[in-house]
Amino acid sequence: MCGIVGYIGPRRVVPILLEGLKRLEYRGYDSAGLVYLHQGGLVKHRAMGKLVNLEEKLDAVRDVESHIGLGHTRWATHGSPSELNAHPHSDCTGELVVVHNGIIENYHALREELQGKGHVFRSETDTEVLVHLIEELFNGKNLLAAVRKALQRVQGSYAVGVMWSGAPDMLIAARCQSPLVLGVPEPGDGGGCLLASDIPALLPYTNRVVFLDDHEVALLYRDRFEVRKLASGREVSKEVKIVDWNPAMAEKGGYTHFMLKEIFEQPQAILSTFRGRVDPENGQVSLPELGLSDREIKGIKRISLLACGSSWHAALVAKYWLEKRVGIPVEVDIASEFRYRRLILDKSVLVVPISQSGETADTLAGMRLARQAGARVLTICNVLGSTMTREAHGTIYTHAGPEIGVASTKAFTCQLVALFLLTLYFAQVRGTMVAEERRTMIESLVELPPLVAKELPGWLEEMERLAEEFVKSRHFLFLARGENFPIALEGALKLKEISYIHAEGYAAGEMKHGPIALIDRDMPVLALAPQDGVYEKLIANVEEVKARHGRLILLGSRGDDGLARLGEFVVQLPVVMPDLNPILYTIPLQLLAYQVARLRGCDVDQPRNLAKSVTVE
Ligand code: G6P
Repeated sequence: MCGIVGYIGPRRVVPILLEGLKRLEYRGYDSAGLVYLHQGGLVKHRAMGKLVNLEEKLDAVRDVESHIGLGHTRWATHGSPSELNAHPHSDCTGELVVVHNGIIENYHALREELQGKGHVFRSETDTEVLVHLIEELFNGKNLLAAVRKALQRVQGSYAVGVMWSGAPDMLIAARCQSPLVLGVPEPGDGGGCLLASDIPALLPYTNRVVFLDDHEVALLYRDRFEVRKLASGREVSKEVKIVDWNPAMAEKGGYTHFMLKEIFEQPQAILSTFRGRVDPENGQVSLPELGLSDREIKGIKRISLLACGSSWHAALVAKYWLEKRVGIPVEVDIASEFRYRRLILDKSVLVVPISQSGETADTLAGMRLARQAGARVLTICNVLGSTMTREAHGTIYTHAGPEIGVASTKAFTCQLVALFLLTLYFAQVRGTMVAEERRTMIESLVELPPLVAKELPGWLEEMERLAEEFVKSRHFLFLARGENFPIALEGALKLKEISYIHAEGYAAGEMKHGPIALIDRDMPVLALAPQDGVYEKLIANVEEVKARHGRLILLGSRGDDGLARLGEFVVQLPVVMPDLNPILYTIPLQLLAYQVARLRGCDVDQPRNLAKSVTVE
């Protein structure tokens, strides 16, 4: 939620800030703003709504001779989305500015205190207290000392960038519980330093990054950086990491939307996620990054999966896989529930937080509680160096590449692949599957990317036809059974989040306990009906819908000609081993949501009210 960016260096700053904001806009798009230093003074521009509104205002100043600045894109928490509440926020003098991602929880008390001392507030945001607090504590010389003191009085979460017109050669950045990454130059090359909420904003300029930790503050100069502990001021040495994403990965590459590009990238992303981890000839999986010995894996008594949004749906699928193939009991929690219930954990429980971003506030909090309770924590994550990967005992990275569309697509299917690998690996170590069976499953996984690549263009067309048919629908029901049930939830989530059609996913057998009352001649009901172990049961539920004249759309196995008798629309998918159906069947559902949203003229990549990375509770 909210994205911040900053630059100091030899290039002109405005285009760098705008490019950075463009790449961070997925984090919030209620307003955008930037500030730069020009002829000794700070110049601020802000606009309500999406970044394009700010860009229009900046036409005349794009080439302005300025080499230091900060930018912000907002997802509103405190204070409505308006220009007045847009960042950057200034102190009373207008010489000090702050951009902030996070929430200052004690802002109310601080605001009263500062108003009592004569500070004049112009916005309704929590952020503005921060800049006035720094002003109050600033002696006009040592800005770092004032920032450190101010941040120690603040409760809550923050990633901040601070700039003062009196220090034209320096930016200050700090973090506590909100992500912040620095882009740093090669020693001696003077290429400039950047700060950003996420890596894609840095990619056009550098792949050398430094991840700030909580309670650290960084000083950025044109040719170097230093990081200090917030409380003691002691300098800390930080490792520079090299990211292997390239700038084009965070661009649309000829597609109309990021979401469509990311859907079409799935064959490659799936392949990258299992490549090097499976040996199809010998039926072996290797996951050394788990940091768990065979003895430890054999000692696991229970697995606890926690996540939010689509990542939670991936966890639900994994429960079916792990219980079926490894025989370990698995519990699955929505992270915001997990963190507030009584946790019964010890070192025999493996806790697996699943997160594309590695920064989701609830998942992170749940994971910290699990660690405190003594559980072993293994995260599944897509973003190198994100907070979860740094705090977990081990990480399985999904190699989906940057995902910009707010609705998760390739990151979700790659989470499924990672969880599938985890299942096979645990089965291998615990001896719960014979080698031959594992080999068949690995072979099927390896066959998946080319299969998906071949099917994608046809699905895009078929889903467009379906979308034309149902574009005016007001409700949608998704049904499935077994390991595909979570995919019904995911299909419904995709549709509702980007097309604003009310959609629900249901376990098909549960339909008669409520949703069946909704079925009439106008109700689209999409059922996932592959020929698996629960096929007959699913078909019985489909008959129940048909008997009530629901409009049936069936996604089933190629060659299953019986479906035509039941469904008004039938989409046939290739036959793969049942375990892999959740990955395969997800993709046409993503395309259905995409096509419906597109025909309805919705903003596919940036649906209203949503943000990709939810770093507040
Ligand atoms: C937001 C995104 C979803 C995502 C969820 C969890 O709601 O819009 O696409 O599934 O957060 O995010 P995470 O990064 O933890 O997977």
